[in-house]
Amino acid sequence: MSVAVIIPAAGSGSRFGGDIPKQFRLLGGKPILQHVVERFLAHERVGRIVVAVAEMVVDEARQTERVRYVAGGATRQQSVSNALAAVSDEDLVAVHDAVRPFFTYGTFGALLDAAGVHGAAFPGVPVTDTIHLVRDERIVQTPERQLLFAAQTPQCFRTAVLRDVLTRAMDDDATDEAGLAARFGYDVRLVPGDAMNFKITRPEDLAMAERMLEQWS
Ligand code: CTP
Ligand code: MG
Repeated sequence: MSVAVIIPAAGSGSRFGGDIPKQFRLLGGKPILQHVVERFLAHERVGRIVVAVAEMVVDEARQTERVRYVAGGATRQQSVSNALAAVSDEDLVAVHDAVRPFFTYGTFGALLDAAGVHGAAFPGVPVTDTIHLVRDERIVQTPERQLLFAAQTPQCFRTAVLRDVLTRAMDDDATDEAGLAARFGYDVRLVPGDAMNFKITRPEDLAMAERMLEQWS
């Protein structure tokens, strides 16, 4: 089955801060986004990669047959929708955060296989902390920890499934597509994720990524 990859990279990185959005910060001398694009490009099952970026970045980007840059939107979900419009007839599509440079081919392959069979799959890691639902500084609920998983990317879908889900979600602002697919009744399978596949969110995460890069590859 052919595979397209969508990389939402149009965020402003407000929690990270700084002059340029975190996905363009250097990791080992190379922009984080470029690490991610190159890793997917080198994967034998991946055909086209569509990257959603800010409009002014689209103008400067070098478009190639395999890597397309399109304008993202105000929300992550809008950015993914815009990118999906540039995916043509690939059977499967993976959505991956621009700021998770340490995804593994092993997990990615397992996710593609699971998505091919069931329609949708995401990498999840069991949470180690107890998670409380808090409103107005009061605990309102404490879900059983054994049932809780932190969702990572790449999240993989049959392309028809992701199209249906994003059309029906309209202008919602979901932080991940797996949850949306489950909401609309799809069978979304958990594949064990990897602790090292963290999302670079705050400056200290980039410092940790620099240390990890030394041991990587
Ligand atoms: N993203 C996007 N379009 C948006 C918002 C986010 O493409 N309008 C992307 C980000 O660039 C990132 C991914 O979605 O690759 C995950 O989002 P997150 O880590 O939350 O990044 P930001 O939204 O940029 O950061 P913050 O929430 O701290 O502002
Ligand atoms: Mg965000």
